[in-house]
Amino acid sequence: GGFPDPRPGSFIHMGVPAKERFFLRRPFSIFDCDDEKITLLLAEKGEGTKIFRCLGRGDRVDFIGPVGTGFPELPGKRILAVTGGVGLAPLYFYRKFFQGTSVWNGGSTANRLLYGGRTEDDLFRTKIDLEDRDVLLATEDGSYGFKGNAAELARAEIEREPAEVLFSCGPTPMLKAVAEIAAASGIPHWVSLENRMGCGVGACRGCVVPVRPDNNVAPEPGASPAYKTVCREGPVFPAEEIDWAQLPKP
Ligand code: FES
Repeated sequence: GGFPDPRPGSFIHMGVPAKERFFLRRPFSIFDCDDEKITLLLAEKGEGTKIFRCLGRGDRVDFIGPVGTGFPELPGKRILAVTGGVGLAPLYFYRKFFQGTSVWNGGSTANRLLYGGRTEDDLFRTKIDLEDRDVLLATEDGSYGFKGNAAELARAEIEREPAEVLFSCGPTPMLKAVAEIAAASGIPHWVSLENRMGCGVGACRGCVVPVRPDNNVAPEPGASPAYKTVCREGPVFPAEEIDWAQLPKP
């Protein structure tokens, strides 16, 4: 049977096999999906993710998903998707999911994708096809593509040819930088946030992010800040909802 309704931006919450040592499930964005399988993009960071890498065909994992909101479908809009690291996954999937050539090249759907890394090695470690005229690459050391980070590339691209919508997924400093560009230029911006998670279904509130108070409602004096769950109400949010200044350092 098929896999239930994945959306670009939704994720799989997957448990690491060595249960005694790594009992928490971890969230992974869906990179690709068809009736037979799902593909995830993993950064080899902690020991937990290393164990995933060593899994072989037929090994079993424990997961829930797909869960979480996705990026909105916006037919006919010129979308600039700004990504770094494994933040590439949901927006690469978005391009495939809403198939068709980008409106930037006379098509009707999908987005132009910016992907940044520190070095050329960062970009090509993923072994995915980045040879696409709607994929623009940046490296901080200038070893490949645009010299600078993905947010700087976004700024340069917007100056060249305005975008109608910004999407972003990747390291928090990059997301913040894109949020600043969006706010300054008045371009709507959707962001996918990553956070440590417990339950993955909105119950434990271990994954909350601070959100701005509703602009139309005067906050109660001394009211505590509002929060939303990344796992259930996110991971994709309108960027102006997020209280970036209160966001904890990753
Ligand atoms: Fe439990 Fe989000 S992880 S509420």
